[in-house]
Amino acid sequence: MLKSVPFDQTHAFSLLTKHKSEIDATSIKELFANDPERFNKFSIRFEDILVDYSKNIINEKTKAILVALANECELDDAIERMFTGDTINQTEKRAVLHVALRNRSNSPIGVDGKEIMPEVNAVLEKMKGFSEKVISGEWKGYAGEAITDVVNIGIGGSDLGPVMVTEALKPYKNHLNLHFVSNVDGTHIAEILKKVNPATTLFLIASKTFTTQETMANAHSARNWFLANGGSIEDVAKHFVAISTNEKSVVEFGIDADNMFGFWDWVGGRYSLWSAIGLSIVLSIGFENFVELLEGAHAMDKHFRTADFGENIPVLLALLGIWYNNFYGADTQAILPYDQYMHRFAAYFQQGDMESNGKYVGRDGKEVAYQTGPIIWGEPGTNGQHAFYQLIHQGTKLVPCDFLAPAVSHNQIGNHHTLLLSNFFAQTEALMNGKTLEEVVAEFKKAGKSDEEIAELAAFKVFKGNRPTNSILFKQLTPRTLGSLVAMYEHKIFVQGVIWNIYSFDQWGVELGKQLANQILPELTSEEAIVSHDSSTNGLINAYKAWR
Ligand code: F6P
Repeated sequence: MLKSVPFDQTHAFSLLTKHKSEIDATSIKELFANDPERFNKFSIRFEDILVDYSKNIINEKTKAILVALANECELDDAIERMFTGDTINQTEKRAVLHVALRNRSNSPIGVDGKEIMPEVNAVLEKMKGFSEKVISGEWKGYAGEAITDVVNIGIGGSDLGPVMVTEALKPYKNHLNLHFVSNVDGTHIAEILKKVNPATTLFLIASKTFTTQETMANAHSARNWFLANGGSIEDVAKHFVAISTNEKSVVEFGIDADNMFGFWDWVGGRYSLWSAIGLSIVLSIGFENFVELLEGAHAMDKHFRTADFGENIPVLLALLGIWYNNFYGADTQAILPYDQYMHRFAAYFQQGDMESNGKYVGRDGKEVAYQTGPIIWGEPGTNGQHAFYQLIHQGTKLVPCDFLAPAVSHNQIGNHHTLLLSNFFAQTEALMNGKTLEEVVAEFKKAGKSDEEIAELAAFKVFKGNRPTNSILFKQLTPRTLGSLVAMYEHKIFVQGVIWNIYSFDQWGVELGKQLANQILPELTSEEAIVSHDSSTNGLINAYKAWR
């Protein structure tokens, strides 16, 4: 069980409040001007990843107090509790052990006195054997043909991770066509089914609980389509596999227990891509590459568990986030990958972060009096530059940004990558330096503008700058590097949850809407007018019923 330490009553919290007014007297630009060693002091190399956090509104004192905050909140104890299988998901009475899924050193880990690594390794072996058969063509569909298409049906953590990774690692992809269906909107599955042939398609029904409405509706529609288009009940075994912790419901659905890939309640949905939920990833890039992904995550796990907090990448990223979230009133955090393959990376961590730390009740069971998880969003560069960067540069809100980019592209076409990276470097510099009125006036004068024109326009061209960014530059987007980057953000989220004194591994907030949808469902098919809700909900439902 995690201890409860009230974040806003720590000594470090009051020191940070005071320190903020001191550091506000300076700017990041000045901090650089006064310290030629700043980049060296505030950047970390980890394998082929360089994390530069020097363009933040911090000095050595800020960093020291933030680290003291982590110590005061007993982060070291929390980390050990997670890695050793303590029940840190208190409200669901579960351990939190996605780190065990990528524990490549195979060191023993126990849950409730039971050693779990043999089971983890057994599922990995099963995934290996199965994927090799499908990829090689040895696994045949009902007409004796090899599988050409794989459709993963899942939602949330049973979808976003596999989608994000298979997109990010497309350069490693084999011949299988991957499709993902998540939305309960029938359009999603309808459009996918138009593209596939039942005789050569494998459906993966991915659901931890095997009760999720969207996934079950899509799974049943897929099976009905299969049966209506040439497949028989006996053929289902060749075309449907399940990934779940719920064997009973899998069997009730009609999938043979032999075709089920299991995982455990100590794997949170949004942390499950490393488990059998990653089967679509294995089918897409092969088992060896999946192991590389696990290896990269494991390397980051070791760094996170052992590095001093002042040199610990996930800890520092978490502390910087807290600095802006709680002392600068920043409501959001942008994740901006300068890599088209990473186009679902921000969406993935939107769930990872917001479902984990979107909580207002502290570990003491009381409402917290401070801000917790930020709104996570982002798009790949340079598209984002032509959409929302205006607000980041000149808006009234402070938006801390993480910029990510590979030094080497998988697609060396002309000078595209150099163009891309010139933008990556330029944006963080521009956000930090801004442009002063004097610089704007000088630029106008050089361009021959009149004093009148300058007076009219100058203010609009001033950039205040001092916008904080982290730059995460890596050699190339390989499975290993991606594994490390994902684990880095996972641990960042964990650290923030520990310090905000909340429980990061439950998600009760998504339940209420689900319950109400189940209550409303029968009302939508009944004949009578609905009067059981507020007048807005009644009015909307009745208008829908009149139109449908
Ligand atoms: O969004 C709520 C949630 O429970 C997520 O945490 C989870 O990833 C998703 O639903 C899907 O759940 P399941 O894998 O059980 O279908």
